[in-house]
Amino acid sequence: MSFRTRFWGKIGVQAKNGADANFKKLPALAPAPPVKMVPLEKAWGIPGSTMMIADELPSSVLPMSEKVTQAVLHALLRVLPNTEQKTRWDKDTATAHLNDIFDGADKVTLWQDWATDEAWARTFVQGPCAGDLHREGDAWVVDASLFGGVSHKPGVANLGVKVAVAIDENGTRPLWIQRHDGTRVTPQDGNWGGARIIASAAMQNYVGMVRHVLNLHYIAAQGMSVFVHNHLPWEHPIHRLLWPHVAGTLRVNWTASRNFVGPHTLGVQNYAFSWEGWQQLVPAGWKLFRWEEYDIPEVFKKRGTDELIQKGLYPYGEDALLIWGCIEKYVADYLDQYYADDAALAADKTLQSGLLAMDAVLPQPIRGATKAELTRVLTRFIHMVSVEHKLVSGIAYEFFTHPYFFPTTAREGRTAEEAVPYREEAEQNLMFRLAIASEAWRMLEDWTYVCLDDKGKDAMRRFHASLRAAGKEIEARNTKRKVPFPHLHPDGLETSVAV
Ligand SMILES: [Fe+2]
Repeated sequence: MSFRTRFWGKIGVQAKNGADANFKKLPALAPAPPVKMVPLEKAWGIPGSTMMIADELPSSVLPMSEKVTQAVLHALLRVLPNTEQKTRWDKDTATAHLNDIFDGADKVTLWQDWATDEAWARTFVQGPCAGDLHREGDAWVVDASLFGGVSHKPGVANLGVKVAVAIDENGTRPLWIQRHDGTRVTPQDGNWGGARIIASAAMQNYVGMVRHVLNLHYIAAQGMSVFVHNHLPWEHPIHRLLWPHVAGTLRVNWTASRNFVGPHTLGVQNYAFSWEGWQQLVPAGWKLFRWEEYDIPEVFKKRGTDELIQKGLYPYGEDALLIWGCIEKYVADYLDQYYADDAALAADKTLQSGLLAMDAVLPQPIRGATKAELTRVLTRFIHMVSVEHKLVSGIAYEFFTHPYFFPTTAREGRTAEEAVPYREEAEQNLMFRLAIASEAWRMLEDWTYVCLDDKGKDAMRRFHASLRAAGKEIEARNTKRKVPFPHLHPDGLETSVAV
């Protein structure tokens, strides 16, 4: 292992230990102070965007020690990037080193058959690629072709890729990979090995950058945190409802704005695109964002995946829907405690004007004129920061580490060995993941201390009871699944995107 890799490994472990210590206890109950907003153009140097993000945070949200740590990290990333390109790993050596780095916690044995095409295709129904699977003709598709026109780093294969898989009672298997130039590669072709690595890198970048960083952290979670911090007074019942679900969000996004987004930062060093590429991708992704894409009961019907759910062939969808039901019931129950009817909700001028004020920081407005409408907005948000974040961050962490399974970047090549990233790039991905992989606050912690009164506490307790029942249901489902899918068990869900 190179000096840089060992050095970054130490930094990663330190960062992880520090973050773990932070998240050991639940956040102290305190009013969230308002935050100052700046245009993205000023914060990230991305011109032409009207997006606003929180800039300087009060020390109660972001302690001075964290600012200093991030400043040091920023300097180190400039002078010691772990992006040398020297050596390549073969598959066995990569696996052995991964086992070393993970200190026995062997992620690559999570699925014993990870190297097979069947296991690769399975990630589209119960792995990190499962988020927006949809039907196209006879195939099930995930489409990352928006990357086609984005500037990649030098030497990186174009990741404008579309992947099609077959899903039926016999299992999962890849059908074809469509490259940016429209050509299709099938598993029978001689260049399948290389194409699968390139498609894997496309999926990792799509899940990691578009669905995780942009859609989830900077649009949904950031927006709702600003709503709670800046527009809802501490004594407002919706502030208390959302408090666990925005906890730590502004802080992690501030950190990401310093050391994940920008020309000499982890995002550019780790993922496939140049900083120029990010500047193209962020406004494009912002424009494409639609809240409806996260309304999963309707979206599963629209995409055709409800049919897979009925047949028990889409474990991610089945369990995501189950948890959605718990959250929706909880939000409706909670709103019932504080609003007798729609007229009472409409009369809450603080809430209504706060929602209107969010137009300036969101790509698409949110409204809550009726209890049904507000239930939808808040259910979707809580589902995004818990279930969707688990998919694009937690589950992604399990699968997006092995360079021969899902690398962060890829080269043009006919075989996997030719297309796989350099060893240093694969190690950079590991160090980056170790550094950000801290624990967050569990959904099933006792959060009742945030409530205004017993009405809120009782609603929260009923929510936890329904989540525990959902956990039992997931356990039962897993006894029948060909390969278990434990990841959306409520025991492992978190309340917010604090990491
Ligand atoms: Fe995250």
